[in-house]
Amino acid sequence: MKAQRVTIHTLRQMKERGEKIAVLTAYDATFARLLDESGADVLLVGDSLGMVVQGNDTTLPVTLEDMAYHCRAVVRGARRAHIVGDMPFMTYQASIEQGMTNAGRLIKEGGCHSVKIEGGAAYAELVKRLVGAGIPVMGHIGLTPQSYHQLGGFKVQGRDAGGRERLLADALALEAAGCYAVVLEAIPQDIAREITAALQIPTIGIGAGTGCDGQVLVSYDMLGMDETFKPRFVRRFATLGATIKEAVGQYVSEVRKGSFPSDAESFAVSESRPQGPDPALYSTAAAKK
Ligand code: KIV
Repeated sequence: MKAQRVTIHTLRQMKERGEKIAVLTAYDATFARLLDESGADVLLVGDSLGMVVQGNDTTLPVTLEDMAYHCRAVVRGARRAHIVGDMPFMTYQASIEQGMTNAGRLIKEGGCHSVKIEGGAAYAELVKRLVGAGIPVMGHIGLTPQSYHQLGGFKVQGRDAGGRERLLADALALEAAGCYAVVLEAIPQDIAREITAALQIPTIGIGAGTGCDGQVLVSYDMLGMDETFKPRFVRRFATLGATIKEAVGQYVSEVRKGSFPSDAESFAVSESRPQGPDPALYSTAAAKK
């Protein structure tokens, strides 16, 4: 049976019903399928891929072409989740026209269902224009990684005098402009709780405590892919980095010993099998659907 797709309206209803929203990042079709089949409501093709996939120190080098490529892969892998494409650094900051053109490209070329932009009230006009053009927008305030140099690093935001007021004003401006949800990243949890209560649209927290309508984590972090990286707000639900190393270590050792592959994992010119053409070795993605 075809899964019912999560939409921006589903997310609003979830907030109204007090149901928490589970969001994870995804960057390729295989992960998208696994996360989707495990019940994630939203898959964010985050520009965090610049760090966890491309190996950069920040998200700044990511291009629109990179994002469109990864969005296409994620869209192919997921059947139920709502797919959000992140607008990369300097693809929307220069002008409203630039933001409109590039968000349109991400939707058309990437196939995602909505876009995310970093920033508060300063982007309200852009949000209005995008929503007016039929492009749903997720906001993102607090620690906005594209402002890495301006912020002086990846730091908790909103602790300084006026921080609470600025964050609340930004969140309200994004809602008024038409955002369907807003990410609150690395802010004190009492501020996140206050913003969540003040907004009709869902808040999605990352390092923003218990009071948000939903949570998002970088999937590689919550799966423990990097054993050296564990900020306080991340919970590791698995230790896949260690599991992968163990499996690969075993493979390497069996290849070296000559115990992989076995005869059963090999083909013979003549072997007993049903008459007719050889069955296909691999099923295609299309055949699986
Ligand atoms: O790029 C990303 O993955 C994000 C989330 C961490 C919110 O923006």
